[in-house]
Amino acid sequence: MRCYPIATPQRRYEACIERGLVRSVGGFLPASRGTVFILSTEDVWGLHGKSLEAGLGDRPHKVLFYPGGEDHKRLSTLESLAEQMVAAGGDRTSLVLAFGGGIVTDVGGFLAASFMRGIPVVQVPTTLLAQVDASVGGKTGVNLACGKNLMGAFHQPLVVLIDPDVLATLSDREYHAGLFEVIKCGVIASPGLFELLRGRHAEVAARDGDVVEEMIAESVRIKAEVVTADEREGDLRRILNFGHTYGHALEAETAYSRFLHGEAVAFGMIAATHLARLLGMVSAGDADEIVKVVRMYGPIPPLDGIAAEALVARLKSDKKTLGGDVHFVLPETAGRVKVVSRVDPRLVLAAAEAALG
Ligand SMILES: NC(=O)c1ccc[n+]([C@@H]2O[C@H](COP(=O)([O-])OP(=O)(O)OC[C@H]3O[C@@H](n4cnc5c(N)ncnc54)[C@H](O)[C@@H]3O)[C@@H](O)[C@H]2O)c1
Ligand SMILES: [Zn+2]
Repeated sequence: MRCYPIATPQRRYEACIERGLVRSVGGFLPASRGTVFILSTEDVWGLHGKSLEAGLGDRPHKVLFYPGGEDHKRLSTLESLAEQMVAAGGDRTSLVLAFGGGIVTDVGGFLAASFMRGIPVVQVPTTLLAQVDASVGGKTGVNLACGKNLMGAFHQPLVVLIDPDVLATLSDREYHAGLFEVIKCGVIASPGLFELLRGRHAEVAARDGDVVEEMIAESVRIKAEVVTADEREGDLRRILNFGHTYGHALEAETAYSRFLHGEAVAFGMIAATHLARLLGMVSAGDADEIVKVVRMYGPIPPLDGIAAEALVARLKSDKKTLGGDVHFVLPETAGRVKVVSRVDPRLVLAAAEAALG
């Protein structure tokens, strides 16, 4: 088993990766706590609930079902889940175990952060995106009608338990969307991971168990290091946003309905790489390699009807814009990025045009 420490002012914990880990979750839960409230969705529970229950052994537990989808990632859902917990005898000794994709880990984390002013959460992510990103780092939250993830809390888990084997049942589209976040990790900090994705495409695409475990472990190692150095989105944590500036603009411009988050990030990484090239920050050879690897794991849905000007207008309203200035995370090579601001708007537009092709 590979475990990576995450040390934040709030808590020190580990993210552990091992095939079959879902079957031994019980050994990671503190003996002193009461009922385990498992938050899951009916699809994930139907596929993997038995394994998790086997892993819990004789620990008292109750399953709460999240209805699924971004539309339910709202405060009203949180309230209903908390009511269900109280009705089932939940108290300050209870524990939340989030067992699902990034929506479930976000909602489960926020539920734990706020239930009776805070109880522990254990994250057991079941999508690739949640395993390499959402479940590690302590960001939790829900949406408001006016925007995504606008309510939430930093609530670091007791432990993150990652079982690559549960990905076998994930749809191809969700799996590939997660792979784009893995590519992101490679470009921001790991030439070795980038090389794995470039050189072992067939095994990655076929979900070869060992290769998948290796790429998840390396992605989690990077996220753990970044979060340890910077829990709350200062300069360092910002590198995790590679591909997300243009990506968020694309998601917003298409009303979050045409692209999965990871697919939008794929577009964003291509646009950011074009921008780095226009600024002379990356060699033509390295830029081509990055774009090639992103495309290798595509295609993403068609980009027709989307105007570069509209995307650029969206960039300015991104919540991560600080003091009105848009920050771009741009590659210098496959394995190193730099945060850049005050970029010439004409180049920002030209890069969007190039990425839209
Ligand atoms: N907190 C963070 O740092 C952070 C980071 C990135 C993303 N997020 C959040 O994550 C969410 C997206 O997460 P996601 O992409 O995992 O989507 P998701 O949670 O909607 O999961 C995608 C779909 O896959 C299903 N599923 C999950 N595991 C499965 C499995 N093993 N087999 C078959 N089906 C399975 C889910 O039920 C769902 O229908 C967004 O709400 C985003 O805001 C949070
Ligand atoms: Zn992301």
